[in-house]
Amino acid sequence: MELIQMKPIIIGHRGVAGTYPENTRASFLAAAKAGLTWIELDIQPEAEGQLVVCHDHELGRCSDGQGRVDAHSLQALKQLDFGGWFAPEFQGEQILTLEELFALLHEYPIAINIEIKVDETHDQEKVARELYRVLSVANMDPQRVLLSSFSHEVLTICHQMSSVYPLAVLTEKLTAADSKLMKEIGAVACNINYRALDEVTLEQLHQAGLQVWVYTVNEPEHFTLKDQVDGIFTDYPGRFI
Ligand code: G3P
Ligand code: MG
Repeated sequence: MELIQMKPIIIGHRGVAGTYPENTRASFLAAAKAGLTWIELDIQPEAEGQLVVCHDHELGRCSDGQGRVDAHSLQALKQLDFGGWFAPEFQGEQILTLEELFALLHEYPIAINIEIKVDETHDQEKVARELYRVLSVANMDPQRVLLSSFSHEVLTICHQMSSVYPLAVLTEKLTAADSKLMKEIGAVACNINYRALDEVTLEQLHQAGLQVWVYTVNEPEHFTLKDQVDGIFTDYPGRFI
């Protein structure tokens, strides 16, 4: 499966998280209107298993709510403000479902890296099933989607459920288990913390036929391998373009 190419791809992290409240409508629209070719976002289940766009499992940092996302119904989550914590002009930003996100970006030629945020308390098979259901209802073009996760379990389940959408293994630092998994699931990319990437690891991943996307680079001058990697996640895409 070929991913849309432009080396390195600049991926708007959680939209444009440096200047907009992360993972919100305002943040994704800013990315799309700026002409970015890719964005990254985080998904997880609410109480009933519907997938919502949110990074933390706890609500406190990015909303005026408290407790876990999966302890709330969608209706309850929709009452919360996901913008005011960032700046007063974003007050009233609501959490998005993944379905709403696809509808929002439908008219833009932007590709979407969906990071599946699951922990040991989630039913990971249920999350994967719901993800594929939403992707299929939205009829998402596989060229416009990359699924990634730190969870080896959910990636294995995704691989077993479908081969339609490309997969990437997320890691803080490349391990033997990551390399084994990438082979097993036919991953197209390794999405790795830029701080843990050296030339030897980069070469090793490229030799294995993998793309290398690095997170989260907000100061381009501090990342010396920027011309050798395939993708760069950043909260400040304007600093790269
Ligand atoms: O997907 C890249 C990056 O977002 C992974 O880390 O914690 O920012 O979701 P995190
Ligand atoms: Mg993420």
